Amino acid sequence: MIEATDLVGAMTTDEKVDLLTGQGMWRTHGVERLGLPALVMTDGTYGVRYSISQIDEKQEAGVDLDAFLATVNRKANDVEIAWGSMKPATCFPNGSSLACSWDVELARAMGEALGVECRAMGVDVLLGPGVNIRRTPLAGRAYEYFSEDPIVTGELAAAMINGLQGQGVGASIKHFACNNSEVERTSMDSIVDMRALREIYLRGFEIAIGKSDPWTVMSAYNRLNGEQAAESHWLLTTVLREDWGYRGLVMSDWHGIKDRPASLWAGNDLDMPQSRTRRDELLEAVNAGTVSLESLDTACIRIVELVRRSEAGRAVKPKPLDHDAHHRLARKLAGESIVLLKNEGAVLPLAAERLKSLAIIGPSAIEAVIQGSGCATTSPTRVDQPLAEIQAFAGDCEVRHFPGTGSPEALAAALAGAREADVAVVFVNTEVGWDGEGSDRSTLALAEGQDALISAVALVNPRTVVVVASPDAVEMPWVADVPAVLATFFSGQAMGGAVADILFGKVNPSGKLTTSFTRSMRQIPGYLTYPGENGRHVYSEGLFVGYRSHDTLQTELLFPFGHGIGYSGFAYSDLVLDRDTLRDGETVSLRFKLTNTGAVAGRETTQVYVLHGKPRVSRPAHELKAFIKTDVAPGETVDLTLALAADDLRYYDPARECWILDTDDIIVEIAASSRDIRLQAPLKTRSRVGRFREITWDTQPGIILATPIAHAAFRGFIAERMEISEDDAEHILQHCASSFLGMATTLDRRLRQRITREEVQPLLDRINADIRAWEQQPGD
Ligand code: BGC
Repeated sequence: MIEATDLVGAMTTDEKVDLLTGQGMWRTHGVERLGLPALVMTDGTYGVRYSISQIDEKQEAGVDLDAFLATVNRKANDVEIAWGSMKPATCFPNGSSLACSWDVELARAMGEALGVECRAMGVDVLLGPGVNIRRTPLAGRAYEYFSEDPIVTGELAAAMINGLQGQGVGASIKHFACNNSEVERTSMDSIVDMRALREIYLRGFEIAIGKSDPWTVMSAYNRLNGEQAAESHWLLTTVLREDWGYRGLVMSDWHGIKDRPASLWAGNDLDMPQSRTRRDELLEAVNAGTVSLESLDTACIRIVELVRRSEAGRAVKPKPLDHDAHHRLARKLAGESIVLLKNEGAVLPLAAERLKSLAIIGPSAIEAVIQGSGCATTSPTRVDQPLAEIQAFAGDCEVRHFPGTGSPEALAAALAGAREADVAVVFVNTEVGWDGEGSDRSTLALAEGQDALISAVALVNPRTVVVVASPDAVEMPWVADVPAVLATFFSGQAMGGAVADILFGKVNPSGKLTTSFTRSMRQIPGYLTYPGENGRHVYSEGLFVGYRSHDTLQTELLFPFGHGIGYSGFAYSDLVLDRDTLRDGETVSLRFKLTNTGAVAGRETTQVYVLHGKPRVSRPAHELKAFIKTDVAPGETVDLTLALAADDLRYYDPARECWILDTDDIIVEIAASSRDIRLQAPLKTRSRVGRFREITWDTQPGIILATPIAHAAFRGFIAERMEISEDDAEHILQHCASSFLGMATTLDRRLRQRITREEVQPLLDRINADIRAWEQQPGD
């Protein structure tokens, strides 16, 4: 096979420029003359959405704005109408649902199944997963994204990508970066401070990219700190390639590039979809010499390498496609992801043989709400309807359905039915079709009339179970009035079956929340500056996203991050750390025991948080660092071991542009949720790096006196400059201690000598070099 460099060397400039723009909406260009094939790519994040009309029949659709908008603005409930002929594909749990499984093995299995479906359809690159942080539950694309936390996000994304790419299909991890709202989504400037960027918003990408090497990265639509993401050299080259060592291809989001030459220079290799205008702009820039041939070639080489990866992928025989097996997998995934939020009086699981009648209420019991709206919306191979699935478990128990909404008569009938039934199960959801890509939710409330429906049913039947389908958190004004609540999020085409499995105890629920549920919208961190104004959206909560804010401020919540219960209980004991001090580059191993105290087999997600003691810089009260999901038989005790790397405990120092391990006395927490800490152990973190700040000419004397190397150096400087003893120099220094002016200015005044910046600079350079050298030496 010809080397990528040689192949690109044989191309004309025109061919190169063609190669760097899409062909139609869903293909890359090939170079037939040189035997380079085109690639096919399509959405999305939890199912393969293959539009026959756009991919097979009407390839020029990329120039057709209507076709594109029909794709993106599509509502979940009119999939077929907007899409014309779509190939059916398994609609798996959407990102916000899947993540509640906290199960990397299942995420990998889902990735693999997506890969198998892509291969069967001839798709080379799948445009997912979406890994943006769910900074606010209002975000239109929250349903596609995994979590408010970067560790859960990164780990699940990596597993999914590995599963997908293992089948020879490339992933496109997206949207890089800070696409956290749909408001003015192609122009809004996300203003994010550097620590929040590195520690929260980029961290999930960094973890996933490090652990799975996705074939492609998709740049985001929005601006980030003043630059269009698709045109940010800092983001696409400095961070992605230089810091993280990424070697794959960067493609734009669809029509996300505004200045093509600038985007190429920044590191955005491929412009999607086809745009003659942007293609010509690039060609003109190349001809004018404002874009170098070298950067053109670099991007082309990455495309050729992507094609090579894909060709190698195609050479591997895929697993055979079995839609029934994928539907079963979808049911298993949904069953692992649905979260039982409360279950007072053990109203669940239902024992069909002891029930005479069940009232199933709500229109979505017969028209399941399974996915969100937008480019990810999938044409499911089939849909399990909750009512039918419940009937399949009910045996002799009478099951009656009441829509309950739409008219006073419908409500009255539902209430009469609920009053007579042993148990009422109410299926509710957020407004279908309006939340999703292109627009944020304006409220955390359920669809109109549904809160009132639940309250009314709860009044007539104390055994009311509520099943909520939503993209992200919702408010639950009725939560105290009902004994049981299940959150399904958008759990895909097998949601109905999975809910029935849980209601009747066939599956012991084990999902846990990956975002916080606040009591009201006003408690969302950053609420005061959401959604931005005049084109700027300041992420005012900084690092304190989600539970990082709530647990620091001790906000009273509806349900905390990491919460979820099941039908068995779990006890934790015997936490042992294999060391009491952790230094740079080291790893600490945590061992503890987990016991299933219930009568049924269960799965528990254990979360490891780190509580910062006296951090040098601002830090959340505690932060998730690791998690593990474990099967435990009733009565069984398992020994679990987890590792924490010192690297993962570091904070990002924007001044030094590096990660730093604090010297701190921290607490390692073993937890069932962010508010349910079961075990604790102390751990010292020790590092010399960053202990002392860089000394500049205007550093205050108090800081210099607290920095031994600087203190000694200034003492020597004064002694030499004034031709006095070190003791006298020390005396003078101590007299400077209370000055709030910078050191150079303070000395200038106190010594009554002209001391210029230039004069102290060599001293400062030496001090700072000595501090760096000291940092590298062993010892605390
Ligand atoms: C979305 C992407 C998607 C692309 C192609 C864009 O509007 O933001 O996530 O992959 O369209 O459908």
